[in-house]
Parts: sequence; structure tokens; C-alpha cells
Amino acid sequence: MAAGADSASCSFLVNGQHAEAPEADTLLAALRDRLGLTGAKLGCGEGACGACTVLVDGEPVRSCQRTAGSVTGRRVTTVEGLAGPGPDGSLHAVQQAFALEGAAQCGYCTPGMVMSVAALLAGEPEPGDAAIDAALAGQICRCGSYPRIRRAVHRAAALAGGAPSGAGPSTASTPEPGPAAAVHDGPDDDRWGPPLPGAVHYRPDRPWDLSEPADRDYFGALGDGLVVVLGPPPPGQWNTSGGSWLHVAPDGLVTGFTGKVDVGQDNRTALRLLVAEELGVPVARVRLAMGDTDVCPFDMGTFGSRSMPDAGQALRVAAAYARTLLPARPGERRLELVSGQPELTPAARWRQAGHPHLAPGTRAAVTGARTFVSDLGRPDIWHGVVLRPPAPGAVLRDLDTAAADGHEGVLVVRTPELAGVVAADLAAAQAALADLRAGASWDIPSAPSDGDLTDFLRGHPSEGTQGGRWGGPFLHQQGSAATALESAAVRREATYTTAYIAPAALETRVAVAAWDDDGRVTVWTGTQTPFPVRAQVAAALAINEHDVRVVVPATGGGFGGKHAGGISAEAAILARHAGRPVRVHWSRPEEFSTGTLRPAAVIDVSAGAGSDGTLSGWSFTNINSGAPGIWTPYRLADQRLEYQPAASPLPQASYRALAATANNFARESMIDELAHATGTDPVQFRLRNLADERLAAVLRAVAEHVGWEAGREPIPGVGVGVACGLEKDGRVVSVAQVVIGRDRRVQVTGLITGYECGALVNPETVRGQIEGAAVMALGGAMFEEIRFTDAMITNGAFSSYRVPRIGDIPPVEVLLLDRPDLPSAGAGETPMIAIAPAIANAIFEATGRRLRSLPLTRDGLLPD
Ligand code: FES
Ligand code: FES
Repeated sequence: MAAGADSASCSFLVNGQHAEAPEADTLLAALRDRLGLTGAKLGCGEGACGACTVLVDGEPVRSCQRTAGSVTGRRVTTVEGLAGPGPDGSLHAVQQAFALEGAAQCGYCTPGMVMSVAALLAGEPEPGDAAIDAALAGQICRCGSYPRIRRAVHRAAALAGGAPSGAGPSTASTPEPGPAAAVHDGPDDDRWGPPLPGAVHYRPDRPWDLSEPADRDYFGALGDGLVVVLGPPPPGQWNTSGGSWLHVAPDGLVTGFTGKVDVGQDNRTALRLLVAEELGVPVARVRLAMGDTDVCPFDMGTFGSRSMPDAGQALRVAAAYARTLLPARPGERRLELVSGQPELTPAARWRQAGHPHLAPGTRAAVTGARTFVSDLGRPDIWHGVVLRPPAPGAVLRDLDTAAADGHEGVLVVRTPELAGVVAADLAAAQAALADLRAGASWDIPSAPSDGDLTDFLRGHPSEGTQGGRWGGPFLHQQGSAATALESAAVRREATYTTAYIAPAALETRVAVAAWDDDGRVTVWTGTQTPFPVRAQVAAALAINEHDVRVVVPATGGGFGGKHAGGISAEAAILARHAGRPVRVHWSRPEEFSTGTLRPAAVIDVSAGAGSDGTLSGWSFTNINSGAPGIWTPYRLADQRLEYQPAASPLPQASYRALAATANNFARESMIDELAHATGTDPVQFRLRNLADERLAAVLRAVAEHVGWEAGREPIPGVGVGVACGLEKDGRVVSVAQVVIGRDRRVQVTGLITGYECGALVNPETVRGQIEGAAVMALGGAMFEEIRFTDAMITNGAFSSYRVPRIGDIPPVEVLLLDRPDLPSAGAGETPMIAIAPAIANAIFEATGRRLRSLPLTRDGLLPD
């Protein structure tokens, strides 16, 4: 195992084997870069996220905060060494429990979590929730799997029989079945395509989506069988998916192709289930190629909860055609181009879909075998770092590269697009970058600080400058809101604001670029939009789009924040200049300052109601954050809805649920205010005014489930709030309970979300998405907030930007309503939107105070 040792090396045991590394290396760098053990992940580099956790003599340590020299002579255990060595490759009880509970989404935090839990159980075989929360307080799961992680710890304790042996192998002899009726299926990790840069893999001469179907070498890539190609939807029909193709091998193995990506949300399992249903084959016989621009159909991107409605439908149609075509000539090479709408299997007749299935690949996540973008490597990859402006909009006036050029073993790259450094050694690249930074002078525009933001956004309207993606100003008028408001028995006006918040995926943005001898570049990156990124890279390099391949390997979370292709272009440019593969891996501060944020919002609402609790008059203006979710699900003859874009001082773009969270926060807070003002119970007020019967049905179901009592006696310091919303064809109702301490600490003590998104394809995935959305939304509701001075972010680190941790999370309950009679909608975003107003309304019940700004608290305390 020894590798790369030099005169200042040290030695220690890693997973029972002798290892050597330079003693000045961080332990994390030694494990990953020198020993090839990538189970320990880089999430922050400052000891604040736990992704890098390993055991040293059985104790959990943050390997990014220790030098290799500090573990000289000691015993280091990484997640790769936790299992076995049983003859059957048995998992450690903790790994087994995490897999059985489906306690991983993207899986990036999972190795660190597993190691911390293994250490906990070694010392405390049957921990309670408080002990679990304390042990995992330093770990971040940005996907919000905390409820499942807690369950997994209890399950691991049970599996291990209360006597785990810590760092050593501790396997359960009798595996228990998974969570209620959920099943594992499919290969352990069914990603199709090249796993590593430079590995031998199939590569067409030209991307399939840019070739005629007859010119695509399907059979060369896939072997004999039937290929069904569904082309893009007809012009004029908006759809994010450019069709699908499907291969059925003579042995029955089915490979579907979609341009969507799976960055942890597990749309993969649901899409496989849809194919399996239409073809009538076991889902374990269906694999998916996703997000590889050389072989997948074009796709606009994985956003807007469009995987089920767009890609799911395209794959279903191709599979349904394949079913009708298969019996004719099985086993031949046969290419069929199809279009139109075949008869699809109704959801009511589904046998596999509609039942819970755990994601394949969970075993790989818990053992550290899952290879993320940041784990991709081969010896000749160099590191690239890029000079960043000190503030948004800063323009480079002058750059003196002499000092940076003087560093040995580095290449300074200066192009019209970027200035950066490439080197074999990351520390050497960073040292040269520091000199490059010192040689730069900038023109920095004046810009506001967070305290001035509301006035700034009001005073800087724009025409919508987000690359046209969110459109320009929007105005909808129906009847006369002004007249209705004048005559309303009860009228309220209020302004709501939301702060900028960061997606903060645990894996920061990474791209690895490698050029082939024939002038084609391949970029491996965790993007949600591989095809638009292909176009961006081609434009940045002034090459043909045919000559760019973008591949999306396992990715440590996205949350709407990994759309832009800038990092891919950076890696490709640096690789071209270096003449070798280059990896660009943003640091956590870069992720905060160079990545994009959820837009801040200023929302003005005027609303009226009759004394009987009937809405009459609604005026709603969103400044800056966007129009999604601006439509009201309530009956309102007189309404005025407006979206006014503004010149944002910070870079902003997509974020999970985008503006729907802000717009629903404002609307559902105001609805609650009107309910109280008219003396109407908040649930009854909503039911009286809702125009959407499906949403009303969810509200009734949730109210019954929680035993909602109109006119219940208030309990001092305790509040329960409700909110609802309709977005992307999903219907959501959330109920929150809060307790306010004497010290003004606000504790959310319970969250329940009811959700209906048509026919449930994989209830397990939907549940996981709702739980994760509740956790993520709780952060934005309670404490997440980007702070900035003169547009420079001042809390761009996990030690200062607070994200939800396990101790922040109350019991999270999910109530699913299945509607097999309706088309399936997504579940990744809409469950976000009712959490913040439900908490705000609960705080009102507990305190009588209306809090109208997100985050609602100041680091968990009621504001003054
Ligand atoms: S704690 Fe080490 S990477 Fe975050
Ligand atoms: S599963 Fe925890 S960060 Fe994604």
C-alpha cells in the first residue's frame, strides 16, 4: 500500500495494512491522493461537515484537520476497511442498517456518517436520540436524510445485538427485511457508461443525439437486439426531454437512455420502474444510461420536477412500443423509429411501480465504493485553480503574473476567459495562485450590503437579466383587485422578504477534462444540465459541439445549484493549455462566492376578505425572486399578480423550488392572517376558499390525520401552523409545531407533510424526497441566510453559514395520497414550499407575532 513516500514520510496502519505518506500531508489528502482510499470525502476542509471522518484507534476524527504525521504508528480505519473480512463480504452492522433504511440520497455524506455511527455504537451499544444527535452534531447531510439516519442507527444497534465492536468487523448474522415492503432491486450500481476518465469505454464517432438514428452504432455499443428510438416531441410542444431510446438484448436485459441525471434524488429507480411496467419485465432487468451527452437523447436539464412528466413519459412510450415489437423477431438487430402515443399500462394495473423500491447502489454508498466526480482520478491528472474576482462584477484591470510564473512545476494560464494555474500538486497550484492574486488589481463596483437589500432591490428594477431563463416582468390582472380591496370587510397589507440562501451541496462543484488526440474533449462533472453544458463548453473553446462530451457520474447533491457550465469550461481550457487532463475542484468558499444563490425576495401583498371568511381582492408583487408559485390556488375573482425582476447584487440562479418557496411563504402567511382577522379557523378558511379540489382533499386528509381542532385552547409557548400549496402539479400541505423557550429559542418539534402528485411511481423515493425537502426547507425557514458587505459574502463557510444538522430536525412525518387515475408529477421541489409558512403560522399561534422575513429567527432565537 505504500505510495509516494519521501524523506519526511511517516507510517501508520490503514485498514490493517502498512501505509506511508508525507507527514505534512493532511490525513485526508494522504488517504485519498496517495493511498487511493476515496471513501473519506472533502466537504469543507475546515472540520465543519464531517464528510472526511475516519477512525484513529477507534475514535472518530476529521481527517481534513489532522496531518498524516499526527497518526504515526496508529491504526486508521476508513469506510473501505469497516466491513468484513467475512468470507461473504458481509457489511458492518452500521453499513447494513444504512442500506436497509435507505438512509442515503446522494450518498456523499454517508461514509463519514457510517464511521461516526460505528464509533458511537462501539462505546454506547444502544444510544437514544439525544446521544445520536450529539454524536452526529458535526456531520452534515445536505440531502436531509437525518430522519432515516436516526432510524438506521437504532437499526444498527439492533442488528449488532447491542455489542458492536467499533472499528473492527461487526456484522449481523440475521439480516432483517427492509422498511415496510421496500425492496432492493437491480444491480448494485447500474450506472452505464465510462466510470473513469481515460478508461476504455464506448465512444461514438459523433454524439448520438446529433446524428441520424440510422448512423448511430447502437448494436456496436449494445450488441444484438431491438432498439426503439422515440424522437423529440413535435415542434411547439414544450418538453424538457428530447425523446428516448431503448435497447432490449436477446437475453432480456433492457437498457434505457435518457438525458436526465440522478444527482441523489433517485429518479433513476422510478424511470426504471416505468420501463419495466410497460415491457412486463422485472425491474432488476432494466438499467438506465443517464446524462452522457454522447449516447443519451438531448435533454434541457434535470430541473422543474420534469423527470416523471417528461423523461418518464418518453421512456414509457418507447417501452410500450418495444413490447408490441418484441414478439415479431426476437434476437435480431432491429432498429425501429417510433412516434405517436401507444396504449400505456394504466397505473391501476402496475405491479412493480406504485410499490416502494429502494435505490440500487446503496451498498456502494455505504462501503465507499460509489465513485463521485471528485473521486475520479488517474495519475496524470493535474489540478487547476482559477483566479476569482473579489466581488461580483469586479473587472480585472491589471494582472502581473511574474511572481506566479516563478513557481517551479506550475503552468500559469492566461486567456480572455480566465487566469489560472495548473500543477501536478494542488498545494503548489494554490501557492502560485496566491501570488497571482497578489498581482491582480480590480475595478470593484459599488454594491449594497445585506442590510440595504430590500431598498436596493426596490430601487433597481430590471428587464429580467437571468439569461432569459426566468423571463421578464410578468403581470396578470383579473377583475379589479383595487376595487375589491376597497370594499373588503377585512383588509391587510404586508411586505415579506426572503434572504439569499445557498444550495451548498456537500460535494462542491468539480469538473475533470481530458482531450483526446483527435481534438475531442470529455468533461466529467456533476451538472444537472449536461447538454446545455456541452454547448457552453463548445462556445467557450470555439469548437464544434460534436467535439465535446459531458458525462455526469455520481454527484454529491445538486438542489438546483449545479446548472451552469463555467467550471466545465474552466477545466477544458486549462486541460488544453496543460496538454493533459485537469481537475478543477471548487473549495467550499468558492462554492459560496462563485456559485449561485437562491434569489432574495421582496414581496408586497394586499389582501381582503369578507366577514364570513371569503377572500375578496388580492394584490401580490414579487420583486426579484421570480414568478414560480405566484398563482394562487384560491378562488379570487379580483386579483393582480406581478413579478418585477431586479438587478441582483449577488449571483443568483435556480434553487430547489426556486421562487415558489418565497411566494408561498408570503401567500400562506397572509392567508393565515386573514383567517385570524376574520375569526375563522385557518384550515376552514382555506377549505372555504380553495379552488383546487385535489389540494382541498390533501388538506382534509392532513387535518384529519393530525386531529386538527378548530378553536382549540392555546397552550402558552406552543403553536401549530398549517400551510398549503400547488406547484408543478403537486399538492402539498404542511403542519408544523413549535415550542418557544423562555430564552426565546424557537424549536420546531414536529413536521407533517401531506402530498399528492398523481400516480405514485416509487413511494419510497417520494417519501425520501419529502423528508429531505422538509429538512432543507426548515433551514431556509429558520436560520439559513447569506450575509454580505458590499456584495462580498461574509459567511461563506460551513462554520458560519448554518445548515440544518441532525439536532435541528424534529420527527418528520409523511402522508402520501396516491391517485393512480392521474398522471405522475415530481416530488423533489413542491414539498419544500409549505414548510416556512407553516412554521411562521405556528410561531404566530405561540407568540401572537407575525414574522415576515425568512429566515424567521436569528440563529434559532426569536428576533427582537
Ligand atoms: S470536516 Fe473535513 S471535509 Fe468537512
Ligand atoms: S445523502 Fe447526505 S449529503 Fe447527500
